[in-house]
Amino acid sequence: MTNKIILINLLLITFLVEASAASNFNQYFDITWGDGRGKILNNGQLLTLSLDKASGSGFRSKNEYLFGKIDMQLKLVPGNSAGTVTTYYLSSLGDAHDEIDFEFLGNLSGDPYIVHTNIYAQGKGNKEQQFYLWFDPTKDFHTYSILWNPQSIIFSVDGTPLREFKNLESKGIPFPKSQAMSIYSSLWDADNWATRGGLAKTDWSQAPFTASYGNFNIQACVWTSSGSSCSSKNPSSNHSWMKQSLDSTGQARIQWVQKNYMIYNYCTDTKRFPQGLPPECSLA
Ligand SMILES: *[C@@H]1O[C@H](CO)[C@@H](O)[C@H](O)[C@H]1NC(C)=O
Ligand SMILES: *[C@@H]1O[C@H](CO)[C@@H](O)[C@H](O)[C@H]1NC(C)=O
Repeated sequence: MTNKIILINLLLITFLVEASAASNFNQYFDITWGDGRGKILNNGQLLTLSLDKASGSGFRSKNEYLFGKIDMQLKLVPGNSAGTVTTYYLSSLGDAHDEIDFEFLGNLSGDPYIVHTNIYAQGKGNKEQQFYLWFDPTKDFHTYSILWNPQSIIFSVDGTPLREFKNLESKGIPFPKSQAMSIYSSLWDADNWATRGGLAKTDWSQAPFTASYGNFNIQACVWTSSGSSCSSKNPSSNHSWMKQSLDSTGQARIQWVQKNYMIYNYCTDTKRFPQGLPPECSLA
């Protein structure tokens, strides 16, 4: 009996060590701003960002990537989070930058967060889609994923796809695929627009506001001056995510989300695009 327990403990320890080696915030990320408001805790297993009246905070990946699948566990600011915005995105920065955005717009206690998504290709964004979630994102950690490969970009929550942006370059639509991007995250105040279009302001008596980051998993091609870690020089690695696309189950899930939880789609906003909807809207 005791032997069995010891054996199980040993197995558990081995497992935990491997898991922590795979996703240690210290190894993959730097806190880049916020003057101590961003913290890496528990030997790299937890990261927290906080926001008070003086400042928000943020972090950035040590590496740049050209294609990848990034899964990040987040627990959003609880309680009255109106006016606060938590972001988690990929960006190449600069004038003609590429970017893939997740933004979480806080709300009054009990009112729903908005998950805002956008994509920039060569400096041009204007591809917003927004969603409510089917759970309270402040109670527990949930996994928010960005899959970015040469064929498509897929945003998912707990494995359920919310949105797919396909590579339609052959039809003249720019797609992010030649600029390496870093992973960024931040918590900041945007009460001039974030909640109810700016009507619900940040209640500073509730500060500091804190968002937490748990496990993450990065399967990605690291980009350095000598090229990509996924080049044919490294055939040993298995990048099955590079070829991943939505199967029929995924298509059905995305339709379920879009039917029940989508609250804004640039592709149906004819007021905003009186000259005609963007071309990808009729091709997708
Ligand atoms: C906040 O709650 C209101 C009322 O339910 C809702 O209209 C709004 O979309 C919610 N989210 C944000 C970020 O404003
Ligand atoms: C690569 O991964 C896929 C999916 O996980 C698997 O089906 C395939 O057998 C793997 N290939 C190699 C060479 O390991």
